Amino acid sequence: MIPNKAKPDSFIDLKTSSRICALTAYDYPTARILDESSIDIILVGDSLGMMVFGHTDTTKVTMEMMINHTIACSNGVKQSLLITDMPYRSYETSESALTNAKLLLEAGAHGVKLEGGSNVIPQIKTLIQNNIPVIGHLGFLPQSIKEEKYYKKKGKTESEKMEIKRDAKLLQDVGVSAIILESVESDLAKNVTESLKIPTIGIGAGDFCNGEIRVINDIIGSYPWFIPPFAKPYCSIAQDIRDAVSAFRSSTLDETNL
Ligand code: KIV
Repeated sequence: MIPNKAKPDSFIDLKTSSRICALTAYDYPTARILDESSIDIILVGDSLGMMVFGHTDTTKVTMEMMINHTIACSNGVKQSLLITDMPYRSYETSESALTNAKLLLEAGAHGVKLEGGSNVIPQIKTLIQNNIPVIGHLGFLPQSIKEEKYYKKKGKTESEKMEIKRDAKLLQDVGVSAIILESVESDLAKNVTESLKIPTIGIGAGDFCNGEIRVINDIIGSYPWFIPPFAKPYCSIAQDIRDAVSAFRSSTLDETNL
C-alpha cells in the first residue's frame, strides 16, 4: 500500500543519479528548506532521539515520535524523497514491521529505512511484497548500541568484512532500493559499492559510496556538544542563536527600546 504522495519512480532514479545527497530533518521548516534545496533524500532519522529529544541514543525513540515528525516533515516536502526510520523494536516480526511501516507511510513517508542484514530479511521481504520501498542500513547500527557498548568503525576484521558483504548482497537480492553504510572502513565500503547494482549511501564510510548522508545538525553546527569525527560543519547555527539571543537580551536592557 503506497499512499498518493509516494514516488516509487524516484527510487528507480536513485540507481542512475550521479551522486545521492541525503540529509536528516525532523521538522517542517528544515524539511522545507532541504526540499527547496533539491536534496535527493530527506530522512526522518531516529537520530531525532538525540537531536530533538536529548536522549543519549536511539533506543528510546517510539513509533509515535516517528509518526509525528514524519507528518511535520511531509508538510514541507514536494520534490525530495521522504524516508522515515523504523524505530527500535518496531520491526521485530514481519507483522509488526508491516503494521508500523504502513503507519509511517500514512504519516507521509515515501519509504522506510531499517537497520540490519540477514536478521531482517523476512521483514524487508514482507514490506517490499506490500509495495513499501525500503532502504537498508549496514555497518555500525545505532539501534544496537546496548549490545555494542560504544560507537565503533565496522569492517576492520575479516569476519566483519564478510558479514557486511554478505548482508549487502542479501539486502539487494530482497529488493531494497539503496543501502546506507555507516562507519564502515573505506576499502570495504568501496568493495561493497562496486559489487552492488543498487546505490550505497555513506556516513563515515570514506569517499567511494554512491552518495552521502549526514545528520542535519552536524553540517549546520546546531548540536555543538557532540560532533562526529567525519562531520564537517558548514556554519554554526548554535553560535548564531547565541549571538541573536545575546543581541535580543541587550535590546531588552536598552531603555531606548522601552
Ligand atoms: O537516524 C539517522 O540519522 C541515521 C543516519 C544514517 C543519518 O540513520
